[in-house]
Amino acid sequence: MKVLQSRIWEKSLSTDDGWEDKSEIRVRLNSLALDYRNVVRRQFGQHAEEYRKSRTHSDPTTLDSIVRLISPRGEEEALDVGCGGGHMATALAPLVHELVAIDLAPQMLFQTSVLAGEKGISNVRPCLADVQSLPFSSEAFDIVACRIVLHHVLDAGKAVAEMGRVLKGGGKLFIQDILGADDRAARDYMDVIERLRDPSHIKDYDMEEWNCFLESGGLEVLHTETIPRVYRLKEWTSRSGTPVDKVEEIVMRLHHMPEEVRRHLKALPSDGDWSIPMRYLLVLATRAE
Ligand SMILES: C[S@@+](CC[C@H](N)C(=O)[O-])C[C@H]1O[C@@H](n2cnc3c(N)ncnc32)[C@H](O)[C@@H]1O
Repeated sequence: MKVLQSRIWEKSLSTDDGWEDKSEIRVRLNSLALDYRNVVRRQFGQHAEEYRKSRTHSDPTTLDSIVRLISPRGEEEALDVGCGGGHMATALAPLVHELVAIDLAPQMLFQTSVLAGEKGISNVRPCLADVQSLPFSSEAFDIVACRIVLHHVLDAGKAVAEMGRVLKGGGKLFIQDILGADDRAARDYMDVIERLRDPSHIKDYDMEEWNCFLESGGLEVLHTETIPRVYRLKEWTSRSGTPVDKVEEIVMRLHHMPEEVRRHLKALPSDGDWSIPMRYLLVLATRAE
């Protein structure tokens, strides 16, 4: 995992050179992390309401099947990481004792509170926090959920380890995130498109990388499944407030995919829009007691 992470850091820092010593690297990494948090806050803060209203995130069929997979018993302390518009949090909260909802963007915490209020849910506790250093003691939660967040997190391995740390032995960790294309070139190509759409996107991970994060976090996988999703470019970019010039660049890249990428990314123009197929990975894991 160290190798993978350093690759990500290297990529993020590739325009820099001439570092004198390790302490300088540390200072630069810290300031990069700070800048990055501001990117997330700006990106999601500006479009928070769209995420609460998103048809994709609020799809009841998906949320029902996730809740069935987690199968809460009613008395659990639960944590929802990167609560966004509050769809995962408000699907789970009525079925547990109390749910702490964390996010880096205060505007998202507000949207989660609004959604909880609309649904008459009173056991959701919003909390401003970064998944990479959770402000909770070890083994504080019976259930930890994290839906469509980790591809925005600078150090996804550390995030998974933190979620594993705050999970009680025998507890349940649920993760839903993008499963990148199996082909490396196609995955890298899609990362560029996703970053044009939303500058807080870091990386799509493949199955090997996800398994590596879970294993390094001391987690045992109980269940995995993949679900296909087709994004419509207009809706996808409107939710994230992508500027027109970036949307044009995405369209140009979709038109001019190299043949080896096109074989894996089956994006197609349709009805004056584009259909972009993606895959989500759903994982249920536990930590040994
Ligand atoms: C797509 S939204 C999540 C949707 C939500 N989980 C749901 O099920 O409706 C991604 C969220 O992750 C949050 N986020 C990104 N990086 C984070 C981090 N390092 N720590 C906590 N939250 C983070 C963003 O602010 C944003 O609200």
